[in-house]
Amino acid sequence: MQHDLVIKGGTLATASETFSADIGIRDGKIATLGHDLSGEDVIDATGKLVMPGGIEAHCHIAQESGMGLMTSDDYESGSISAAFGGNSCFVPFAAQKPGQSVADTLATYDGRAAPKSVIDYSYHLILTDPNPSVLDELPGVFDRGITSFKVFMTYATRVSDAQFLDILTVARRHGGLTMVHAENHDMLTWMASALADNGYTEPKYHAPARPGLAEEEAINRAISLSKLTNAPLMIVHVSTPKGAELVAQARADGAYVFGETCPQYLFLTKHDLDRPGMEGAKYICSPPLRDTHTQEVLWRHIARGTFSVVSSDHAPFRLDDTGKFSNGRDVDFRKIANGMPGIEMRLPMMFSEGVVKGRINLNQFVALSSTNAARLYGMHPTKGTLAIGADADIAIWDPTETRIAGDMHDAMDYNPFEGMEVTGWPVTVLTRGRRVVDQGELVAKPGDGGFVKRGRSDLSGLTGTRLPETDPATNFGAEILR
Ligand code: URP
Ligand code: ZN
Ligand code: ZN
Ligand code: ZN
Repeated sequence: MQHDLVIKGGTLATASETFSADIGIRDGKIATLGHDLSGEDVIDATGKLVMPGGIEAHCHIAQESGMGLMTSDDYESGSISAAFGGNSCFVPFAAQKPGQSVADTLATYDGRAAPKSVIDYSYHLILTDPNPSVLDELPGVFDRGITSFKVFMTYATRVSDAQFLDILTVARRHGGLTMVHAENHDMLTWMASALADNGYTEPKYHAPARPGLAEEEAINRAISLSKLTNAPLMIVHVSTPKGAELVAQARADGAYVFGETCPQYLFLTKHDLDRPGMEGAKYICSPPLRDTHTQEVLWRHIARGTFSVVSSDHAPFRLDDTGKFSNGRDVDFRKIANGMPGIEMRLPMMFSEGVVKGRINLNQFVALSSTNAARLYGMHPTKGTLAIGADADIAIWDPTETRIAGDMHDAMDYNPFEGMEVTGWPVTVLTRGRRVVDQGELVAKPGDGGFVKRGRSDLSGLTGTRLPETDPATNFGAEILR
């Protein structure tokens, strides 16, 4: 067979195998895996690793924060930075504003993404105001191929437990996945006031204002709501040992519970908040950075499979009055924008500290960076693997190149991981057979990326929880959970 493009001589890695083969690509799809393939165009991958392109499943792009502040990255700079970090697809958020219809929300994000993205994209729909007319719109959201929602248990955008249960139930009915930012809102605001009222206002007090206990309480509650409804739930950015244990236990119970952690909880600590002047503001994110013991425990949970994905939670706000200091420079920690960038650093850091240092193997790396996200967010096997018929979403890595992390391709004025020595970098990234980054140069144009229509979430490996006490056959309730 004649191919449009052949990737020759590389070592291929999927979530389960590592092997030598050429990849033949036709019409944007993987057509052949074999040897001595020929094509009109050839990429020599000798000495390189060839993997499914990364899928970044948690990032904030062209999105207003809970404070109403627009992220520094739009779909152009955000997708370019993602591609340089080895990603061929990403799923940022489309955030509903209170009172806004879902149709209007999605139209807004289509306008932000379609003309600008260089890689394929979809959105998770953030629901902040799930009133009855919004709930009525949700089946249509699944028909559009948007099969994941996100809710907050804190911030002004939080939902009540009752609203959360409604959303879980609708999502489950349509094969979707609900994501949750789990922190106990009242515990946080009470602690923050207690600190600020006593003059503890510097950036470093962001950490004690958001104790692990507040996260763990909310994770436990969210898991209980998921069990009650037998509905799939993704706990995003788990940042504590106990939080990870709760996820692991829920999974052992069979519950449709999934966990995500992020590089900042593996590579940074709360001591980074205590840098001179207001530099600590760079490291204000939520949940906050923890400590080195936490880092070790989270790595152990990554290695043993508690976490299905490691995502960047890229939430870029520049260190100036358009971003971190939009409420002024000399403000207390409560008024500083939350979030840090990292979309380009996620995979190189996980490769360097994970694979090169032997904490995880290469196949686990592929699972955590691409395959599991594709499965959970309804894109597998079109995306997330190297298989015949799959989209040719491919990242070619030089596993030996070492760089000191510095300026990235995002629109940010700082890199929280600056100065880290990182071994293993993507050199060429393809989305549907088209080069986005070629030998370290951007070649795609804004708008080249396309919207990905997603399907049902893959829940294999878990049984779900049918609670006898909610069963109408043995109790007296109506079949409210159907
Ligand atoms: O601090 C963070 N992570 N900001 C982004 C919004 C969120 O919490 O996901
Ligand atoms: Zn969050
Ligand atoms: Zn986030
Ligand atoms: Zn820059």
